[in-house]
Amino acid sequence: MAESAAASTQELERAALDSLAAAKSETELEDWRIAYLGRRGELSVRLRSVGSLPAEQRREAGASLNRLKSRLTTAFDEAVQTASQSGRETAPLDAIDITLPGRRSKLGGLHPSEMMMREILEVFNDMGFQTVEGPIVELEKYNFDMLNVPPDHPARDLQDTLWIDRKSRDKVLLRTQTSPMQIRTMEKQKPPVRIVSPGLCFRHEATDATHEWQFHQVEGLAVDEGVTMSDLKGTLYEFTRRIFGTQRKIRFRCDYFPFVEPGVDVSVDWNGRWVEIMGAGMVHPKVLEGVGYDSSKYTGFAFGMGPERIAMLRYNIEDIRHFFSNDLRFLSQF
Ligand code: PHE
Repeated sequence: MAESAAASTQELERAALDSLAAAKSETELEDWRIAYLGRRGELSVRLRSVGSLPAEQRREAGASLNRLKSRLTTAFDEAVQTASQSGRETAPLDAIDITLPGRRSKLGGLHPSEMMMREILEVFNDMGFQTVEGPIVELEKYNFDMLNVPPDHPARDLQDTLWIDRKSRDKVLLRTQTSPMQIRTMEKQKPPVRIVSPGLCFRHEATDATHEWQFHQVEGLAVDEGVTMSDLKGTLYEFTRRIFGTQRKIRFRCDYFPFVEPGVDVSVDWNGRWVEIMGAGMVHPKVLEGVGYDSSKYTGFAFGMGPERIAMLRYNIEDIRHFFSNDLRFLSQF
């Protein structure tokens, strides 16, 4: 009995190795593995039947079948490797098919507001203005009070916004303008000051083609000894020349902002009419005194512009609401 078991183990091995040598493709190899090494394959069946052998044969039979199993496993692994190396094999599942057309990945782009802001900042950076950024959720004192807009000032009604916390001593709101960065900057440093500050602003607006409740601004501030209105005009002329070229006309007109005196609005001609692109003016002495600057020694100018408005003029965009409606048909044009 023991002898015949040994003989049939040898036969099994020879048969297995012969058919392994004949297996060429991945599927044939897999069929072989199932037939010999699989859970219901030859070897498993025999191993399971070892239990029914007479007790004195079990050990030897079990051991020799297990040795065979490990020899066949090794042979199988080698066959798989040879097959994939020799290239006779169909491609393994994780191979890259270089004949397939590639999948093009979509390239993102900058939002037109962001592109416009970067361009604006670059112009002022070239003129020596440093870029600073500040919080969107702002303290009331920076957004209004220290900009010479006391609580009962009518300018507050024009810039109604979302209040985060009205009850605490330091009231907190979504900033309505980037002008608070004038104060934050001056509180931290002595003149000379030359900064530009970009960012999001919010106002409670009835929206229309030129007004959104969310928009960007770029603020500018220059304070030093002897800064005059002609510095303001020269700087802003240079800015419009760089952004719009020399052909566009620009207009300075008196305007009122509580934190400048005198104040101006700056407009650009667009399809035969004037469109305001920024407010500007000479920094109000009260604002300078409020941050501890000596207003008899220092003067300055400030400006605040809307990059969306400027992009509208630049690219002939008819409605400001396009900027925040997240329609790719609009966004992908830039
Ligand atoms: N902050 C003003 C606004 O939002 C613009 C401005 C900035 C005007 C600086 C003058 C000086 O309307």
